[in-house]
Amino acid sequence: MAENQANPGPEDCFCSSAGSQIAPNMSLDFCPSLKALYSATEVVGRSGNPFFGLSGLSTINNLRVIRQLLLKTKPRKTLEVGLGCGGSALTFAASHRDLGRPPQKQHIAIDAFQTRLYDDAGRLQVEKAGLSGYVDIRECLSCYELARIAESGQRFDLIYIDGSHRFEDVFCDFYFVRTLTAVGGFVLFDDSSEKDVVRVITYIQKNLSDSFEQMSVHLFRENSLPAKIKYFAAKTFHKTQLTIFHKIKEPQ
Ligand SMILES: C[S@@+](CC[C@H](N)C(=O)[O-])C[C@H]1O[C@@H](n2cnc3c(N)ncnc32)[C@H](O)[C@@H]1O
Repeated sequence: MAENQANPGPEDCFCSSAGSQIAPNMSLDFCPSLKALYSATEVVGRSGNPFFGLSGLSTINNLRVIRQLLLKTKPRKTLEVGLGCGGSALTFAASHRDLGRPPQKQHIAIDAFQTRLYDDAGRLQVEKAGLSGYVDIRECLSCYELARIAESGQRFDLIYIDGSHRFEDVFCDFYFVRTLTAVGGFVLFDDSSEKDVVRVITYIQKNLSDSFEQMSVHLFRENSLPAKIKYFAAKTFHKTQLTIFHKIKEPQ
């Protein structure tokens, strides 16, 4: 994917065919472990102790959008900040598998507190699903790990930011992610109605709109008129759960 004429813009990419290709009520059947995780009331970490920290999981709607974006754009390399209990990581890894890719650790998941606070639950989910070959877990603060990855010159086609939700951390994540995202790639912010996340999104909209074009999430969601109206109202008032930007060119 790239920004120039050889490559379509986001609306070209998705509008025409999205409606017919996207099943709004897509289930999580593509990954039984993911389905089980979202049906559970508790999750068991490495120590064998159950804990009830499932509220940190991405919403199923987010996973649907991520899944559709992955299947549609066929990214080679992806990255997420925030492994948590592994909801999004399972979606990324299973989608790389379903795209017919051999396991090459093509999804990097950064999480500073995976062992200490999450009892390795996300890593365990990935292992149990037989998807470890697709996921490269980096247990480190995102500000340090993203800097290291940026220095290595790697680029990613889709990056999901769902780590710390404090302004300075989200801004720092985006500072590196704006470079780490390949031209033509996508940046997704979870919890984009949270005040600190909104500040970063507003910064991008005001200062980087030449390079980062905001995309309508509804392209990957239910297509009914009420659903669209609800989405546009939420967008107007910064109440959307997920915000997507398409990187169309390198920032100056
Ligand atoms: C909301 S959870 C992620 C949920 C996950 N994306 C999912 O779908 O299940 C947020 C995660 O970010 C991690 N985290 C928080 N602050 C971080 C930071 N500064 N650097 C790296 N990871 C961080 C936490 O340990 C936690 O696991």
